[in-house]
Amino acid sequence: MRKIAIVTQKGGAGKTTLAICLAVAAREAGENVCLIDLDPMGSLTDWGHRRKSEDILVMATVPSELPWIMSQLKMHGATVVIVDTPAGDTDVAAAAIDATDLCLVPARPNIFDVAACGGTLKRLKVQERDYAFVLNQCPPQRQTPRIQQGIDALAAMGALLTPLVASRADYQEAARKAMGVTELNSSGAAAAEMRELWRSTRARLESRAQKGRVA
Ligand SMILES: Nc1ncnc2c1ncn2[C@@H]1O[C@H](COP(=O)(O)OP(=O)(O)O)[C@@H](O)[C@H]1O
Ligand SMILES: [Mg+2]
Repeated sequence: MRKIAIVTQKGGAGKTTLAICLAVAAREAGENVCLIDLDPMGSLTDWGHRRKSEDILVMATVPSELPWIMSQLKMHGATVVIVDTPAGDTDVAAAAIDATDLCLVPARPNIFDVAACGGTLKRLKVQERDYAFVLNQCPPQRQTPRIQQGIDALAAMGALLTPLVASRADYQEAARKAMGVTELNSSGAAAAEMRELWRSTRARLESRAQKGRVA
């Protein structure tokens, strides 16, 4: 069972959006996916309640229950668990980091989001967890100096996953309809991005697992 947390101190960076869209992309790729909402704001839980299909288990919980829930999910055949977290360097985020194998850290290409990644990174290093950044809400048309600066800064802090995720109406529309972008418009650009991001995430998990076996 692969366990992924989506963390960053910054609110609005796209944690919940990526959790949802990656979960649906992973489900479509044949995984048995569970989404865990650790954010008291409950956006992910709300998405789960509104969703018509029951193909993805969505559960809200508290940090103290995480290890037990993970063991139950494994027993019941989950192959991928994605944990959504609140903003801030909180005990909740720390528990999610502790309970997972890989942390994805979304950031928008602006100076404040990228700077906030530095704080999140300190936490990830203290907890010795693997992580990778995801640049989210990039302008779809062209690479600007601002985007390049974001790419360079995140790459300097560690792995930056491909692709860059663009700012697209599909992400907001999919959330509104309790879907992932791959369901909303399966031939759209956002869908292609999320399928590729799932492939990158899986490759990252697999390469770390290999290293773990060798070490
Ligand atoms: N790639 C994207 N394109 C367009 N809108 C996005 C994208 N990613 C996130 N958003 C929007 O940005 C807002 C914040 O995203 P959200 O996932 O709630 O962030 P977080 O969970 O980190 O606080 C939401 O309105 C969401 O629809
Ligand atoms: Mg959120």
